[in-house]
Amino acid sequence: MTSLPADPRLRLRATHKESVAPAQGRRDFLNYYDYGVTDATDGWMRLQVNEVKRGSSASTGWHIHECVGQLLLTVAGWSEISFEEGKSYRRPVGEGMFLPGNTPHNELALSDNFVGIEITLPAAIVTVPCAAPSVNPALLPDGIGDPPMRATIGTKEEQERRRYREGDFDIYDLGVAEASNNWMSAVVRTVASSVESTDWFHSQGEGQVWYGLDGSLVFDFKDAESFELRSGDCLFVPGALERRFASATKGFRALEVTVPAEVHEKLSL
Ligand SMILES: [Fe+2]
Repeated sequence: MTSLPADPRLRLRATHKESVAPAQGRRDFLNYYDYGVTDATDGWMRLQVNEVKRGSSASTGWHIHECVGQLLLTVAGWSEISFEEGKSYRRPVGEGMFLPGNTPHNELALSDNFVGIEITLPAAIVTVPCAAPSVNPALLPDGIGDPPMRATIGTKEEQERRRYREGDFDIYDLGVAEASNNWMSAVVRTVASSVESTDWFHSQGEGQVWYGLDGSLVFDFKDAESFELRSGDCLFVPGALERRFASATKGFRALEVTVPAEVHEKLSL
């Protein structure tokens, strides 16, 4: 396995849900929680949780974000978004979405109980209003940006279709690696039955971030304290850092995002 040279800006950051602080955000109808990834990566990546303020829902209007790419995953409730004039899409719990930078979109509504994860590269993104497109360039086969990337929605059906086994884990692939030309991969890692301690490994990517959805998984590190990732916790690991999965509960689920994309040995089920 080859690895990219270690980036000195990227540091390990393990954050339990209980220690997360509210953060400033761009919409007044959301509460924002920062998980320290911006700080640990010197602005390379940000992970935040967006939670709707009770009783509010509003359309953002058409806009783009100036960034390389943005990944979203619904954790509770639903979110409705439009990519092209007159068409909308409702994203329920468990569904993810990848938007290359500069993708026109309009966030139409959020359920009263909406909670979502948002990962952006870089951490600081600029929001710019735009016109409503009748054809969205990010949905065309050639995509936009450098490398050329397409917007994609990781529906439950799509994740099931792209499911594969890796050791003791079942991995549900959101299709982001394919859409982003291997710039980013995004999967939901789940325990197939039980997990024995894995061998030590590192990532092929520069950095990897996990967000716990259910159950727990214990990470061991050669040069740092072990960390138990539970529901609502976040872990950022520089790619070169050696780690292993020590144990996990049945029912464990976590979002796992790697930049650049990690290409897995895929064993079709
Ligand atoms: Fe947006």
